[in-house]
Parts: sequence; C-alpha cells; structure tokens
Amino acid sequence: MDTSEITPENVYLSRREFLKGIGIASTSAIILAACKGQGTPVTSIPSTPTGTVADDGEKEPLTSFEAITNYNNYYEFSTDKEAVARLSKDFPISPWKIEVGGLVNKPKTFDLDDLNKFSIQERVYRLRCVEAWSMVIPWMGFPLAELLNEVEPTSAAKFVRFETLYDPNKMPGQNNSWYEWPYVEGLRLDEAMNDLTLLATGLYGKNLLPQSGAPARLVVPWKYGFKSIKAIVKIDLVEEMPTSLWMAAAPNEYGFYANVNPDVSHPRWSQATERRIGETGRRKTLMFNGYADEVAHLYSGMDLSANY
Ligand code: MTE
Repeated sequence: MDTSEITPENVYLSRREFLKGIGIASTSAIILAACKGQGTPVTSIPSTPTGTVADDGEKEPLTSFEAITNYNNYYEFSTDKEAVARLSKDFPISPWKIEVGGLVNKPKTFDLDDLNKFSIQERVYRLRCVEAWSMVIPWMGFPLAELLNEVEPTSAAKFVRFETLYDPNKMPGQNNSWYEWPYVEGLRLDEAMNDLTLLATGLYGKNLLPQSGAPARLVVPWKYGFKSIKAIVKIDLVEEMPTSLWMAAAPNEYGFYANVNPDVSHPRWSQATERRIGETGRRKTLMFNGYADEVAHLYSGMDLSANY
C-alpha cells in the first residue's frame, strides 16, 4: 500500500492547529487535557512523563486527522484501508449499547448517555499496527478500569473478552467467510485494569467517526493495533483466555498477548522498524511501543521471545 500521498505538510499543519486549539506547546503528554463529557477539552492538566516523547527525547508529531481517518483497518467494511472511510460512512452509531457481564457482581448495559457520564480525558498514544506502520493519535476516552470497577468483577474473573457488533447488513465485510465473526479480542484482567488501557470515544477533540470504531473502541497502546477492537457491543469478564478472531484465523501468526516487540519477528516480516504514516523513512520500533515503564511489570517472569 502506497501512502506517499499523505504529505508531511499535512501532518505538520494539523499538528499546529491542534496544539493551538488546546492551548499547549508540546505533544509530550499522554494526558493533555480533561473534560466532562465529549467535545472540546476545557482544562489543561500537567503533562505526565510518558507518551509521545521517544526514549531519546525526540518529540513525535501527531499524525494528521486526515490520515487517521482515511487509512484504516476495519475488516467489517473492507480489507482496503483507503476504502473503509467511504464504506462505513453511513454505519449507524446511535443508539448503541454495550452489555457488560460475565463474572461480575453488577452486570450493566451502558448506552451512550451512560458512556458520556465518564470523565473524558485526552491522551496521545502511538498506535503500532502488526503490519509495521504506525501513527500518533490524540484519543479522547476514559480508562477501561473505571467501567470495569462499576460492574465489580468477581475474584473468579481472570480475563476480559470484547466483541464487536455482528450485523452483516450494516457491516458487509462480515459476509467474508474467511473470518469467524464477530471480531473478538481479549485482555488479561490486569492488562485491562492498567491505566493506559482506554475505552476511546473520540479523537482530535471530536467524537469517533465510524471508520475509527465509533461509538466506542478499545485502545491498548503497548500492543499491536489489532488488539484495539472497534465498535464494541459486549464486554465479558471470564475465567479462561478468550480466543480472538486473529488467533482463530492464523494462530501461528497472531497470539493473545501481541505486545509490541522489535525483537520478535512476525513469521512473514521483521518487527524491528516501522513506517510512521506521514513520514518518509522508517523508525525503530520500541519495546512495548515505548510504554515499558508502565507495563513491563505485567510480564515479569514471562518469556517475551515467545510472546507474539
Ligand atoms: N476492530 C474491528 N472490529 N475490526 C477490525 O478489522 N482492525 C484492527 C483494530 N481494530 C479491526 C479492529 C487493526 S488490525 C488495527 S491496526 C486497528 O484497529 C486500526 O485502527 P485504526 O483504523 O483506527 O487505525
């Protein structure tokens, strides 16, 4: 796929505009601003040490809104990244319900009003796709832990299983019988509870568009992008490790953990470097996508070379 038409100027201009809009001068923070409900951030809060500053201290510019919303992986609509925006344009995202249940004391179905009651934060994260391209995205959302705490997982709950809507009339890619629909993903409960794990409802200060996984999608920035499941309708707390759509489709290529790791190649390509959308050349891929300080402890004692 050739994305050379996405110009660096575009990226630069969008970044300037965005930074001007929220009144700060740096993209270094993962938490740039916080506000109640969705929409424009109202309060700037101090930056935290992680985010879009690489290990060498280099500032990484935001990917443009145009690129983030026109270069998408969303197989429910198309396997052509540049066709997803057009094909998902009329996908109905309201009303919407997310049913949260399984091993919990207080199962609850969240509608859009319920989701809007969470305090929305803005966080800039790298997104590293398993296909070796990446972006820097200013998400709006709230820690998934807040929603999970509301339903009170029982002590038997060890994993969280997420499911995308299944409706082949609205998502024509689901007629493709190569895959076991609906799209399913999973996290270990401690991964799901980690503060970096977001339920995202927007980006660049606006509600998500359909192609980005509206109305609500997961964002797990230290894992390959396929873990960040879109258009979630069901979240279940479970005892056993869930089988994801990708584990079922190609178990020798896509594992459950899927932590970004430059030292472990995909069977068909290296993961050592990545193409940042909007830039020429390649960047070195960082262990845990640059979030090792926040998440490496989750995997102490695990053999990371077998962790794909
Ligand atoms: N979620 C669903 N339901 N369907 C998908 O095809 N693709 C995944 C993930 N979530 C996908 C999905 C992959 S492979 C990636 S890299 C990211 O979404 C891409 O997110 P983006 O299109 O917002 O960049």
